[in-house]
Amino acid sequence: MEKNKIDRRNFIKLGSLGATVVITWPLLNSCNGFASENKNTINPDFQADLDFELTAKETDIQLFQGNTTKVWMFEGNVLDGDKTTVQKLGKSYLGPIIRVRKGQKIRVRFKNQLPEESIVHWHGMHVPEEDDGHPKDVIANGETYVYEFEIMNRAGTYWFHPHPHGRTGPQVYNGLAGLFVVTDDEEQRLKLPSGEYDVPVVLQDRQFDNNNQLVYLNRGRMDRMNGFLGNRILINGNPDMKLSLKSGCAYRLRFLNGSNSRFYKLAWEDGTPLVIIGKDGSLLDSPKSKPYVMLGVAERIDVWLDLKNRPQGSQMIMKSLSFSPGMMGMMGGMMGRGRNNLPLGSTYEILKINIDKTGSNDFELPQRLAEFNKLDPATAVNRNNPRTFRFFMRRMQWTINGRTWEMTGVTEEETVKLNTTEVWEIVNRGGRMMGNDDMMGERGWMRNRGEMDRDRGMMGGGMQMPHPFHIHHLQFNILERDVSGVDSRIWNSVKDGFIDEGWQDTVLLMPGMSVKLIMRFEDFKGLFLYHCHNLEHEDMGMMRNFKIE
Ligand code: C2O
Ligand code: CU
Ligand code: CU
Repeated sequence: MEKNKIDRRNFIKLGSLGATVVITWPLLNSCNGFASENKNTINPDFQADLDFELTAKETDIQLFQGNTTKVWMFEGNVLDGDKTTVQKLGKSYLGPIIRVRKGQKIRVRFKNQLPEESIVHWHGMHVPEEDDGHPKDVIANGETYVYEFEIMNRAGTYWFHPHPHGRTGPQVYNGLAGLFVVTDDEEQRLKLPSGEYDVPVVLQDRQFDNNNQLVYLNRGRMDRMNGFLGNRILINGNPDMKLSLKSGCAYRLRFLNGSNSRFYKLAWEDGTPLVIIGKDGSLLDSPKSKPYVMLGVAERIDVWLDLKNRPQGSQMIMKSLSFSPGMMGMMGGMMGRGRNNLPLGSTYEILKINIDKTGSNDFELPQRLAEFNKLDPATAVNRNNPRTFRFFMRRMQWTINGRTWEMTGVTEEETVKLNTTEVWEIVNRGGRMMGNDDMMGERGWMRNRGEMDRDRGMMGGGMQMPHPFHIHHLQFNILERDVSGVDSRIWNSVKDGFIDEGWQDTVLLMPGMSVKLIMRFEDFKGLFLYHCHNLEHEDMGMMRNFKIE
């Protein structure tokens, strides 16, 4: 892969020499495709409505009193177009909020000033392969990658983050992520809360040392198998988890779980139901009222919050309620003791809303939101024979159908046809015996019996963990969620928290769970990713390509 990239650069450099082009061209063409060859220059024929630089760089910010904190961050700089559409989020490390409209054309000049390779992925967006931020397209320090694409998605809450293979976890952890908000005519007609009443709430967990510096995983492989769990929650990149809102007003809160591995069971502390109006890539057809919502890594929900009858001076608190997460939680609890006061699945505060001002607005919650044309299973080419992808551990590796990451590798069972609709079944369970067969049966990878016992002990004898499934390039509908294989203790603790309506790109699978998704491959051929969005799992190879041809 490195090789391809070097070829590509040589090609660009040699381009003016004429003769070389003739020799190099077919070679390149067969590797990466024609369109991706000039991604460090702009296409002058592409008329961008918004043209901006997005620079990833290292910097120091004042998060706490005392020492500043070294972070990595995205900085936006609008070159052409409405400057207010790339909006910095306070003093935090988080990237700017980018607000665009369906049908707009945007050009992003991603500049890598990090001390390592990177590439930016537009999570949830329907873009061509060369604009998707595939790990094969990473650029080195000092280089620029130019994205030029049209916004084809519906109104929704999307986001962007780096996607270099093996380094997504640490790069996001260091601060690289931002919201990418799309609106469209349908949404505009609903007159939902906008401006100061449309509030981002990005949830992340972090850990800081005594010098205020970020601490990432350092305890080796078992820690990474589990995934990173921090010991404090940051909202929009700020360690004080407060928002200050106005009595008398209605709000739209856009939640993104931007954590590496942690997921949440979100609820208002006083028992007020959560009113959900959107999920990932869409508004719902109508508002859904929930006692709590499970928000897996990378998932988004849009929450309606009515403060019309809440007095000034009052407060609302959002918590993550307790639940049984399966193995990951046991490890978080067991290994984390002394180091982590926020084991996964315990109860803790997420966010305080201080209603310390008063105001008024006349936004009303519409009873009908978006027109919702779910894909029809009858139109799927494999209606009764879904493609099945099992997420499980094999020989101490996180795998999908037993395979791990290959940069451009793609198999027959991962190849689909353009302009078809398919049903995919994603299963969090695998191997011969609930995923721990290799541990029991194939001992080659273990050095000795003691090590096996230790690891089995840590894993509680099973190898199942929650996995947030994500697919690039498209939004799917959830057809069904099969929970018959889920331990009842786990299921009972989360069962009212899933939103299966709307267009989604990420779905949380608890251990033993499987989901049937329906999706359509349209507009672009190419190589795209599907993976577990637990960033440590992803970095360890629980990620594969699929190909649309
Ligand atoms: Cu958030 Cu591969 O994506
Ligand atoms: Cu994505
Ligand atoms: Cu996973």
